[in-house]
Amino acid sequence: METQKLIKTAHDLVAGDKGILAMDESSPTIKKRFAQYNIPETEEARRSYRELIITTPGLSEFISGFILFDETIRQKKKDGTPFIKTIIDAGIIPGIKVDTGAKDMALQSGEKITEGLDGLRERLAEYAQMGARFAKWRAVITIGNGIPGNACIEANALTLARYAALCQEAGLVPIVEPEILMDGNHSLDTCFVETEKVLRAVFRHLCIQGILLEGMILKPNMVVPGLICPIQETVDEVADETVKCLLRAVPAAVPGITFLSGGQSSELASARLNAMNKRFKGRLPWGLSFSYGRAIQQPALEIWKGQDANVPEAQMALLHQSRCNRDARRGQYNSEMETSKM
Ligand code: 13P
Repeated sequence: METQKLIKTAHDLVAGDKGILAMDESSPTIKKRFAQYNIPETEEARRSYRELIITTPGLSEFISGFILFDETIRQKKKDGTPFIKTIIDAGIIPGIKVDTGAKDMALQSGEKITEGLDGLRERLAEYAQMGARFAKWRAVITIGNGIPGNACIEANALTLARYAALCQEAGLVPIVEPEILMDGNHSLDTCFVETEKVLRAVFRHLCIQGILLEGMILKPNMVVPGLICPIQETVDEVADETVKCLLRAVPAAVPGITFLSGGQSSELASARLNAMNKRFKGRLPWGLSFSYGRAIQQPALEIWKGQDANVPEAQMALLHQSRCNRDARRGQYNSEMETSKM
């Protein structure tokens, strides 16, 4: 294992109060996002949109790494420059989503298992050769009637650990993402219990598989109430419970925790991250950062609408959301920043 290289990449991903921008939506997922704004679902539209993101001037001040999709890592700018070269030249670390999606789990009604281990060693070798330095795999856990059960938790935790081992063998830092979905009416307390259970299982399996904890990143959900739960705790309560849960389950050797946004609004995702850093920074073993997809991209996508003329304004929005989250890492974000953009 290239221990020093893994440790350096993992640290670089959370250094300087920067965070990760997830732009690895699969083609079916980006189709859904585009459909909201009647953007055509073509390879050229996806290419143009991703070119908009990676060419945003100044993004490297706030963003340490991009998570790309297989199609994207192979694409080029309109002028023929490979995306991967553009990204590296901008001082941003390229990463790649390597799972092939969450599928219905056999015999476990309502539960999902993420696939993609077959042929992964060969795919990772190709991505590493192309210049990728980290990877991402997302496990999906649903809270519902009697779920998640042990079968789902154990299978997903083992799969995440096998993926992480293959990544580290290939010299890529694994982003380990066990996502507990926000859908449903469950309480924050239920989310806490299930998040702790899942994280404990994930780290048990990571240790069994011999993962170098210093050379990985954890990408968890925050501890939040279900979207339609009648009781919605305050930003500070979410911050306190999330940190309490992570302190119980995440080893101190892990250099960084980069949250997913999971469908939270951009403002809430920044405010909650801000509260955690404001209240706990300097007292935690790991950095608390972001690896947001929707919470960074949504305003930019809404402005772009597939029109070339809207690119500069969309890039300003992307830069703004990225800056907000960098400031949230410093505990210096406030919601007034949303009205006084740049
Ligand atoms: P969201 O921030 O939109 O949840 O996306 C992050 C991600 O990479 C999910 O796998």
